[in-house]
Parts: sequence; structure tokens; C-alpha cells
Amino acid sequence: MSQVQAESQSSPNIVIGMGTRRLVTNPHRDAAYVGAWRGGTGSSRFHRTMPGYATTPVVDLPQVAESCTVARIAVKNEQERFGLPSFKVLGSSWALHERVKHMKGFSPDTLISFHELRTLAPGLGPPTLCTASDGNHGRAVAALAEALGCRCVVFLPADSAVSRVAAIAGHGAGVELVKGSYDEAVAAARATARARGYWYCPDTVGDDATPDERAFASDVMVGYGTLFEEFLSELVEVPDFLFVQAGVGGLSAAGVSSLRRVSSRAKVVIVEPEGSNAIAESLSSGAPRSVADVPTVMACLRCQSVSAVAWPVLLAGADAVLVVTDNEAASAVRDLARAGVIAGASGAAGLAGARIACSDKTIRSRLGITSDSRIALVNSEGATDPESYEAILAQRN
Ligand SMILES: Cc1ncc(COP(=O)(O)O)c(C=O)c1O
Repeated sequence: MSQVQAESQSSPNIVIGMGTRRLVTNPHRDAAYVGAWRGGTGSSRFHRTMPGYATTPVVDLPQVAESCTVARIAVKNEQERFGLPSFKVLGSSWALHERVKHMKGFSPDTLISFHELRTLAPGLGPPTLCTASDGNHGRAVAALAEALGCRCVVFLPADSAVSRVAAIAGHGAGVELVKGSYDEAVAAARATARARGYWYCPDTVGDDATPDERAFASDVMVGYGTLFEEFLSELVEVPDFLFVQAGVGGLSAAGVSSLRRVSSRAKVVIVEPEGSNAIAESLSSGAPRSVADVPTVMACLRCQSVSAVAWPVLLAGADAVLVVTDNEAASAVRDLARAGVIAGASGAAGLAGARIACSDKTIRSRLGITSDSRIALVNSEGATDPESYEAILAQRN
């Protein structure tokens, strides 16, 4: 990487490196912010009713911690969740729970077991679930539709990896390939769901979303809260830093909300791919900004816009955004493989960000990383594109 320098006094929250914004600290961070769902959620209790529920493990990386000169680096390993290779099903399952509960007129604090959901959902139509995805969200919605006895259609950018398309189709879902970006796939899924009366199941929304669309995307984030609730109890001590990768910002917003409930001091650093850095651009300007569609090996983070329901959470509760390159993500994939963790490039992006933050003097001191720091990361996926994974492992650091 080229020498990192602090930018001039006019943009004190931006550190420039590799010819682009490398680190954007958040001048809007509210020290009193306590997260979006104070008092916990029912999502953990619901997820425990799903067949195959198990807390995913936390893996310590002592050698990486030593080379980063920090006290601890711990990874929540979501390489497998409910038999799927990513954390994503936590979000859509809880959002479907909430939608069915609402449609049946149950009180807000009702908890329906997954078994009951299986009986209730088909009775509501049966519905056809419809969403857009870079891969993992669509696969999760397709698997849920299959389990609930519903039909499903998933919209993907046409250049999505063949293995991702096949995995979604393998759950019996229809796949629509959209010639265009992820944002365009989202627009196509939304328009089709409206025209055909499908249940739109978004993990991201824009400013013009209907209350139902906003509710679904918000509930997806609440569902991710299960991951962080587990993580915080497995870690025992609250970490000093959470490095968490972002596409549309739902996962990182869930991390912010869970962490802010227990600590105002712990820092949340969002990690984005170079090019697909809408959150960095948004935080540096103080308002949501979209970016162009740029290919990246971190395919599941290749998003052009921050979700309108994640944005206020990130603005109030995230500390910084760090941008990483494809090579840095690939190197983190190999680090994790050496520790026995299978991580696709999107899954390893958080570690890539932590490595840069620890090794670059300017960024390290800007974030306040010390040899006593405890860093938490999420490996958010397994080898969801096996071909890309094998190619990364075959490369050298
Ligand atoms: C593997 C993986 N990691 C991270 C993310 C980022 O989540 P979000 O888009 O909510 O920021 C995604 C999103 O699909 C993903 O699939």
C-alpha cells in the first residue's frame, strides 16, 4: 500500500491512502447512543426454535494478534449457520416471523415457534417470497421458502458466480438474472413483487420504501442481533473494537446496536471493499451517497447504497469506516484458513480491515489501538463461491 498520510485540516476525519479514502472517522458519532433495539429482541428465542440451532463458535487468532501487536483477536465463525454457509438466514427468518405475526394480528410480544410458522405461512396464500441478492440473502430466503412450503423468486446481478445461482436454484427457487448492478437487481425484485403480489423480502431499502418494506429490512437487522448476542456472551469481556464488514450496512448496524447496549466506549469500525464504499462516502459527507458498481472479489459486499434503515444507526453509533483492497481480503482468507476457519473473501474482510488498522501507524493511533486492545471480528460466510475460494488459497501472501 502507498504511504498513508493524514489529509489537510479541512477534512480531519479522513485519512487518505492508496489514492482513495482509506479511513473515514465518523464526526457524527453520538456518545450517548444506545442502539436501535434497547432491551433485547425476541429473535434469539425464536432462532432457538429452528431445527439445527446451535451457537456458532468463536475462534481465537493468537498468532495474528501477536503480529498485530494487540492482546486478542477473536472471530465469530459464521461459516455454517442452520446448514447454510453464512449468517444471513438469521435476518430473513426473524423478519418472516414478524410479518406472519403481524398478518395474523398477534400481539407484538407473541413468539411463534418455527414449527408453528410452517403451519401458518402457507395458510396466508401461500405466499411467493421475492428478493434481490448478491448471493447469501437470496440463498437464505430460498431455503426458508423451501422449509415453509412457499414459492420463491430471487433477483441477482447477471454476473453473479454460477455457484451462487445454482445454490439458490437448489432450494427450488426461481432465479432472475438482471443485467446491471445489485441496486438494479433490488429495483427489479421490488417492482416484480409489487406487480405480482409476491411477498417482498428486502434486506435493504431506499428512502422511498413503504412502511412494510422498511419493517422487513429493519427486522432483518434485528434478526442479525442473535449473532451479536451470542458473540458478546461467548467473549465474556466486551471487546475494545469490532471490525465488521458491510454491504448495505445491515450487519454492521446490528453490531452497533448490540455493542452500544453494553458499551459506549467500544469502537465499531466498518470495513468496505475499495470501490463499493458507499458507507465511507456517506459518513464523510454526513448524508447517504451512492457509488458506482465496481467488481470486487468481496462479491457479497458489492453494494452501491447504504440501506435507509441501517443509515441512522451507523451515523449515530459507528466510529469509522476502513476501505480494503481485494488483495488484502484474499490475504485475510488465507490467514483464517491457517487457523482452520473457512472464510470467503466477504467473510474475511473484517480481518483484512483489522490488519491494516493495526499495522498502519496513522490509522492505529487515529483509532486508539494499543497492545492491550481486544478485537472482535465476524467471519460472515464460508466458501460460498468454491472456485474463487480455491483460487485465493492457491495464491501466496
Ligand atoms: C458474507 C456476507 N458478509 C457481509 C455482508 C454484509 O451485510 P450487509 O449487506 O447487511 O451490510 C453480506 C451481505 O449479504 C454477506 O453476504
